[in-house]
Amino acid sequence: MIIRPRRLRRTSGIRDMVRETILTPKDFIAPLYIKYGKDRKDPIPSMPGQYQVSVDIVNKEIEEIWSLGIPAVILFGIPETKDPVGSSSCDNDGVIQQAISDIKERFPDMVVVTDVCLCEYTDHGHCGIIKNGHVDNDATLEVLSRQALTHARAGADIVAPSDMMDGRVAAIRKELDINQFHETGILSYAVKYASGFYGPFRDAVDSAPQFGDRSEHQMDPANAREALKEAKLDVEEGADMIMVKPALPYLDIVRRVREQCNLPLAAYNVSGEYAMVKAAAEKGWIDGPRVMMEMLVSIKRAGADLILTYFAREAAALLNS
Ligand code: PBG
Repeated sequence: MIIRPRRLRRTSGIRDMVRETILTPKDFIAPLYIKYGKDRKDPIPSMPGQYQVSVDIVNKEIEEIWSLGIPAVILFGIPETKDPVGSSSCDNDGVIQQAISDIKERFPDMVVVTDVCLCEYTDHGHCGIIKNGHVDNDATLEVLSRQALTHARAGADIVAPSDMMDGRVAAIRKELDINQFHETGILSYAVKYASGFYGPFRDAVDSAPQFGDRSEHQMDPANAREALKEAKLDVEEGADMIMVKPALPYLDIVRRVREQCNLPLAAYNVSGEYAMVKAAAEKGWIDGPRVMMEMLVSIKRAGADLILTYFAREAAALLNS
């Protein structure tokens, strides 16, 4: 007798019944780049369909994202001034702090997540304070904690440290708690690899390191056991959710972290993953929307509960149609 798995693929009705992984707009967190200035919506050349938007018009974007059923955004700041210690990241009237309060005023139910890192705010483009030519871990923790606190004060629901300094989840939790922000959550970029897939992002926020690279703090792409160690540490330090980044080249890591840890798990479908699909689709080499959906479902199938993706709006529109 022949066993016939094809019976369950015969019609779209049957395929719908037996589908194991269902993507919805509720799975997505949409990244937004917020810039200083007025009435600006500047296209990012390496990320077709993505823009740097000025703070004053951020709610136009939020309105669209909200109407598509996407429950959350993550904000990245492009400040007017950068200096060696990233001071503008802790400014209570900074671009991000302003954007958070504007969003929360009009869309109180939109979940606002903020990226906590210094690379967008330092003139050298590194993720922390430089001492003797290297990023100094403990000096950086202080600035990150202050930055996170300003986000919490402005009304952020969740802060998301992406710097990969040791001990930052504990440091941020402590700073938030001392200041009575017990309710502000932490989504830790627990497992973040030193990746070539961040290329377009660094153009988008002008944060490419002026010297050296980030392999002294981000993880070696060859390591998997180390990912489990990083994830465990951040859980112990008090993270509410953790993230693996990038997503697609690391789906084995998403699966392994999922199996080890009971917190909600996010995966970041990063700028380079987005740019590759857009570029190949533009050339007519792949069917862009089809590849997009296949990628997103594969990230969820691997074990991610939440997907940070530049495809959020496009995919949500397709799912809603
Ligand atoms: C650091 C940060 C980076 C990304 C998110 N947060 C870049 C880096 O580590 O160099 C990358 C996001 C993407 O590529 O889409 N603040």
